[in-house]
Amino acid sequence: PKVAYVHPDGSRDVLDVSEGTSVMQAAVARGIDGITGECGGSAMCATCHVYVDAEPSHAQHLPPVGADEDEMLDCTACPRAPDSRLSCQLVVTAALDGLVVRLPGHQR
Ligand code: FES
Repeated sequence: PKVAYVHPDGSRDVLDVSEGTSVMQAAVARGIDGITGECGGSAMCATCHVYVDAEPSHAQHLPPVGADEDEMLDCTACPRAPDSRLSCQLVVTAALDGLVVRLPGHQR
């Protein structure tokens, strides 16, 4: 599945992400600027904050926000928005092909 990472300047990186890989892991593995993923994906750091531009077809396939995630989303460096998620909690599946995430200006 493809995931597009949109930088604050509007440029985008589109990655082919293996199913079962998180949006954070794929970005860190490919050196995408803007996602840090300091805690390695355990919803403990909030340096993988993204805004999800979810089309209705994707929204229904996104995992619900977990309690830990919800708490950490209150600690993001850039303001939390209704579409804020921790990208380490977004595991890519075929149904999410074409997902677009916007990167916040900074993660700390
Ligand atoms: Fe730390 Fe997502 S990588 S919360």
